[in-house]
Amino acid sequence: MNDYDSQRIKNAIGIPQTDDPGKADIVIINTCAIREKADQKALSSLGKFKHLKKSNPNLVVGMTGCVAQLYGDKLLSKASHLDFVLGPRAIPKLAEIIKDVEIERTRIVETSYDIEEPFEILPYHENEKVTSFLSIQQGCNKKCTYCIVPTVRGKEINRPVEDIMSEAKYLVDKGVKEITLIGQTVNSWKNDGLKFADLLNIVGELQSLERIRFTTSYPRDFTKKLINTMKTNPKVCSHIHLPVQSGSNEVLSNMKRTYTVEWYLDVVNSLKEEIKDMAISSDIIVGFPGETEYDFNQTLKLVEQVEFDTCFSFKYSPRPATPAAVMENPVDSDIASRRLTILQELQRKITCKKNEDRIGKVEKVLVEGKSKNDFNHLMGRTSQNRIVNFGSKEDLCGKLVNIKINNGFQNSLLGSIL
Ligand code: 5AD
Repeated sequence: MNDYDSQRIKNAIGIPQTDDPGKADIVIINTCAIREKADQKALSSLGKFKHLKKSNPNLVVGMTGCVAQLYGDKLLSKASHLDFVLGPRAIPKLAEIIKDVEIERTRIVETSYDIEEPFEILPYHENEKVTSFLSIQQGCNKKCTYCIVPTVRGKEINRPVEDIMSEAKYLVDKGVKEITLIGQTVNSWKNDGLKFADLLNIVGELQSLERIRFTTSYPRDFTKKLINTMKTNPKVCSHIHLPVQSGSNEVLSNMKRTYTVEWYLDVVNSLKEEIKDMAISSDIIVGFPGETEYDFNQTLKLVEQVEFDTCFSFKYSPRPATPAAVMENPVDSDIASRRLTILQELQRKITCKKNEDRIGKVEKVLVEGKSKNDFNHLMGRTSQNRIVNFGSKEDLCGKLVNIKINNGFQNSLLGSIL
């Protein structure tokens, strides 16, 4: 989501980007507030630009994103070199704000949620990129007690289908072969009588689009209709990111996730039964207030049962103005760290084993470009979102190729072209 916003910011400004802040006319720090660490990182990176502003008083320095939304005008009093603060909803207003700062030398805070056209600015799309994100939803209506997103990104707005399709067509015309639809709870999308499953089929009608992915899904809104669409529409990839957050019903209830472990397993089992070779990834929080050793063991049990292909796990981080931040029985930080290590080690083994299981199989891979580690190799992904590297002298970017898997590692597979 933040990457998509950064691309939109680039487009909204419309001037070339430089990696050297010393050469910049405008510096924008786009931020994330999901955990305290990200929040602190944003604030400390702001400090880095103080000396630049001193040596170049015409430099415009702005902070955008969720930290900007969270702290608003407090940021201006904290950092005298900061010219503007702009929340994630207000990206369409960015160009106008920069102009005002440059001409009038005023300091501006724009954190309103009521922006007339919140999707107006399209993301910048680099030529030759085969894959792209496409936002179909902003904000979130769920009430997860640990989460700051509804506070900083506002209420859910679902983007109209015509608007989504015009961006999708633009991307396909630029050569994009795979679109990932994004939203905080992407499968809750609905608009004008249409449901998310309908949207997948509409996007799938674009001729030269090969693949559709979507993230992040909310378990409670994962319908049978959606499972059926994933099964019947060949363009929809066999992978979902479905954060479970905990394997304990007690903890899930305290998190207000609105489903039980049994409900989650039912969705996962239906997906695995209906769709061949289905890959499932997840997010888990450890050390949520009140989480006992028994609760944590329930999480380990769930991870062993589902065998997630990958799983991102985090130590609970209290966020301002969230209900969980004032809950009783906080978990000791060392205990939470220990739990995180145990969980990550378990998942590491599962991921490795799953990747090794692919050895000898032939995978259909959409080639995205050169491999990061070896320029004689190309890199692509399977429908299950596994990264595959393979040797090739030909430029196969954007092509679907069959790759025989020879080796499986922690984060990728290695193969040879057939
Ligand atoms: N503390 C730790 N992890 C969190 N996440 C969201 N809020 C918090 C928090 N306060 C995690 C969830 C979510 C992922 C994007 O970040 O697992 O799915």
